[in-house]
Amino acid sequence: MTEFDTLTIVTHPLVQHKLSLMRDKNCASQDFARLLTEISMLMAYEVTRDLAVATTAVETPLEVMDAPTLAGKKLALISILRAGNGMLEGMRAVIPAARVGFVGLYRNEETLEPVDYYLNLPSHLSQRHVIALDPMLATGNSAAAAVDKIKSEGAVNISLMTLLAAPEGVRTFAARHPDVPIFTAALDRGLNEKGYILPGLGDAGDRIFATK
Ligand code: URA
Repeated sequence: MTEFDTLTIVTHPLVQHKLSLMRDKNCASQDFARLLTEISMLMAYEVTRDLAVATTAVETPLEVMDAPTLAGKKLALISILRAGNGMLEGMRAVIPAARVGFVGLYRNEETLEPVDYYLNLPSHLSQRHVIALDPMLATGNSAAAAVDKIKSEGAVNISLMTLLAAPEGVRTFAARHPDVPIFTAALDRGLNEKGYILPGLGDAGDRIFATK
């Protein structure tokens, strides 16, 4: 098992094309947010590929059949604040019944431990497939801490959906959560000294919400 065994790169041409548009520094904020929504919808297809399916009796206009339907409790989508919110609209467009939660963390500069400043999670997490959303897997520390928190609230079946990942982030995250598959649209070269992904796309939160 290598450190990248849990990583799936979604190489679909539509995803790759839209991601390239997003990387352009001249991509306007409203276009950036729309493209992230569109990519999230497309990536949802891959992230949910192995969901359990059961059958339900459905009466068509002609006869009754055993039709495939998603099994078990509704999925949980958990946004890692704040950039994770940029993936929610696309995910909810294709999984409208999903329950939605939020994890906001900051790092205590004295203890260096992550502290949650906002936590609002759906009930019965242990029985749901949880998809944690964070577009940028950079150092991997905040995503790993967010998944620690989600696990501590009972979740056992978790996937992480990102847009861009750095090798450092994948290594850190996979070492702490080898049971959590990671989905990304691209694995970039690495991090700069400030922790930004290269070549990357800049600060995802600022670009989604036009805060710079
Ligand atoms: N977070 C971002 O938004 N961008 C990066 O490049 C790294 C972390």
